[in-house]
Amino acid sequence: MNDPLPLVIANLKANKTWEELLSWFDQVGPRAAQFKTTVVVCPPVPFLAAAAAKIKTANFNLKLASQDVSQFEQGPYTGEFAASQIVSLCKYVIIGHSERRQNFGENEDILAKKVQNANAQMLNPIYCVQDENTSIPDGVQLVAYEPIFAVGTGNPDTPQNAHSVAQKLKAKGNYTVIYGGSVTGENVRGFLKKDIIEGVLVGNSSLDPESFIDIIESASI
Ligand code: PGA
Repeated sequence: MNDPLPLVIANLKANKTWEELLSWFDQVGPRAAQFKTTVVVCPPVPFLAAAAAKIKTANFNLKLASQDVSQFEQGPYTGEFAASQIVSLCKYVIIGHSERRQNFGENEDILAKKVQNANAQMLNPIYCVQDENTSIPDGVQLVAYEPIFAVGTGNPDTPQNAHSVAQKLKAKGNYTVIYGGSVTGENVRGFLKKDIIEGVLVGNSSLDPESFIDIIESASI
């Protein structure tokens, strides 16, 4: 992972049709290049290939991440997609998001296999932890602290607590730590702190292009 910090990551989750995503790219793409941040977009996975082609043709300064990856490599796993099948399309992959832990029964064994498969393909895991006690598999460099009470609720953690959790996480390994959970253009500055929290993972406020551009702009100051 050698992209300039801070990282500003849009997790679009299972939102937007392709036409809506295209319009989002056309609004965010040209503006993102104006700021000194690395902007990463996690589109719905079925659109990864078309999103990669769009970024290339339009020459946007955006990186892509997958919202998930299989715990398996290629084989008889209907509906799954392997790290080796997405590595040419994206640079990062979200692993361990609380929505996948809660809704899809992803446990630590599964998550460790996902990390292993991603790393074997040189795909960078964005590993989500819910607090300082969440275990982190070997091979993770980028950790997103995303407290459950803050994800999708409009109720962010306090910057002070987020910094303290980030310091505890960093004491366990040489991680780059980012924060996620109800980040907005108004509160993003408070979370970012050099060598402590060096990026944000944004859900709801990334859906509207203008709100997301506000976040990129505030993060780059
Ligand atoms: P939120 O989502 O910004 O809507 O809280 C963050 C996330 O799920 O990564």
